[in-house]
Amino acid sequence: MTTLVVGASGATGQHLVAHLLEKGHTVRAVVRLAERLPESLRNDGNLFIIEASILELSDTEMAEHVAGCDAVASCLGHNLTFKGIYGKPRRLVTDAARRLCAAIKANKPEKPIKYVLMNTTGNRNRDLNEPISFAHRCVIGLLRLLLPPHVDNEKAADYLRTQIGQNNQFIEWTAVRPDDLINEDEVSDYEIHPSPIRSAIFNAGKVSRINVAHFMAQLIMDNELWQKWKGQMPVIYST
Ligand SMILES: NC(=O)c1ccc[n+]([C@@H]2O[C@H](COP(=O)([O-])OP(=O)(O)OC[C@H]3O[C@@H](n4cnc5c(N)ncnc54)[C@H](OP(=O)(O)O)[C@@H]3O)[C@@H](O)[C@H]2O)c1
Repeated sequence: MTTLVVGASGATGQHLVAHLLEKGHTVRAVVRLAERLPESLRNDGNLFIIEASILELSDTEMAEHVAGCDAVASCLGHNLTFKGIYGKPRRLVTDAARRLCAAIKANKPEKPIKYVLMNTTGNRNRDLNEPISFAHRCVIGLLRLLLPPHVDNEKAADYLRTQIGQNNQFIEWTAVRPDDLINEDEVSDYEIHPSPIRSAIFNAGKVSRINVAHFMAQLIMDNELWQKWKGQMPVIYST
């Protein structure tokens, strides 16, 4: 199997690349700077590095990079600097999803390609009745005004949910929603729920990036798991 990973140099993306390579998968990693990937990964013969800023690739280049892939995974996120949060590209995650999906469609693959998006519990799955309190609603409203990356995450999942939908001939998708991210060195027990079981704003749980990456890799590799979660926005907490 071959997977294209965008945001591969990020804290979660690196774990995802490592999990996939460990299982003998071929990985194409789009990174702005190859040196941001650990040497252990760079030396793996099954890793093909595409050194580019994802949104600067032409449509033709994108179509070439997704051609022959079984899955595309996005661990993109805005860098937590003033420029990363308030500068361009404001719609990094959404525009990458939009353009990568357009590239997949342009290739007309014989079987649907999996698109696995790293999203957030701060985002609701509007296909489900996910209740939130008035106070929660107010905080989210404020986040939308103050933090453009939050809107980007919402729009990226909305794009998959409403534009790709549940019956696309070429693309199936899952938007994985982690709660507060922490760093751990080893995969540990984690739990997956269709919707948050606690308030992402007032009582957030924790999940390690390595667990998020493990779940994303399992979705790519395990078709039974994929059938269970495709078209959904599973929430992940470390146990
Ligand atoms: N922090 C939390 O508690 C939390 C909770 C839930 C969900 N999330 C979401 O989780 C996602 C990823 O988290 P993370 O901690 O793994 O992220 P991260 O370590 O910051 O990685 C972000 C990735 O995006 C890439 N990137 C950033 N700006 C880019 C640009 N303009 N063009 C191309 N690539 C760009 C980075 O590339 P470079 O290495 O080149 O910069 C890096 O590969 C984010 O969407 C975030 O919103 C976070």
